[in-house]
Amino acid sequence: MMLDCALKTEKLNLYYGAFHGLKDVDFCVYRNAITALIGPSGCGKSTLLRCFNRMNDLIDDVKVTGSIFVNDRPIDSIDIIELRKNIGMVFQRPNPFPFSVQDNLLYGLRVHGIPKRQHAEIVERCLKSVDLWDDLKDKRHTSAMNLSEEMKQRLCIARLLTVEPQIILLDEPCSALDPIATLRIEELMIELKKDYTILIVTHNMQQAARVSDHTGFMLLGDLIEFGDTSKIFTAPSDNRTDGYITGRFG
Ligand SMILES: Nc1ncnc2c1ncn2[C@@H]1O[C@H](COP(=O)(O)OP(=O)(O)OP(=O)(O)O)[C@@H](O)[C@H]1O
Ligand SMILES: [Mg+2]
Repeated sequence: MMLDCALKTEKLNLYYGAFHGLKDVDFCVYRNAITALIGPSGCGKSTLLRCFNRMNDLIDDVKVTGSIFVNDRPIDSIDIIELRKNIGMVFQRPNPFPFSVQDNLLYGLRVHGIPKRQHAEIVERCLKSVDLWDDLKDKRHTSAMNLSEEMKQRLCIARLLTVEPQIILLDEPCSALDPIATLRIEELMIELKKDYTILIVTHNMQQAARVSDHTGFMLLGDLIEFGDTSKIFTAPSDNRTDGYITGRFG
């Protein structure tokens, strides 16, 4: 069952100082699928997500035990620049750089020294991937800060795609968006999973049910249950999962 994990953890524990934030988490994110993490506020969803691009390393007093694998390689054996190129992350609030649309997209290409002659083609490909090309092809030199929230979030996804990641981490990517924009971003995720592996944290259970193939339910740092989304939402094995998805707590 664990054969095709793009991301995997074994007995993963994380402590913020004395606080035990992740408890013996065994988790797998399958390749070319969408995996959702759900659970009440503070249960450790973002903490687990951040383990996969080593963002927790930036926090003082964090201790991690157990194993994390990316494509079956121990995460610590992977160069951090390479890791963050391969695993892109999208945040709750769209965070384009305060530059033009074009310069947002060229940023990663410049950092990674991609030859200039490839830039135009990559920009076009990535804007098309997030369905912004028609809207923005003639506005590439205007500030990204003037876009709608949805377009900013799409641009942030396009910005990741320029450096050809395999895996995309999304931490509540729709929480700043209205319901229509949310549905459109969900359609985009389903489109992107043909080429990418996606891990999404969401508070929106309908969203998890609509977009994901696999779902993990977390509670107080434990991964209580992990399995096919259809099963988690119709016949969960653990009554705490049942309680959460039926709205009895959280
Ligand atoms: N930098 C930190 N230092 C100390 N404790 C932290 C830190 N970040 C998170 N925590 C604690 O770890 C627990 C898990 O936090 P985390 O942000 O992963 O939860 P979450 O499931 O993403 O919650 P939410 O749904 O509100 O985003 C919480 O109790 C939180 O207070
Ligand atoms: Mg969070």
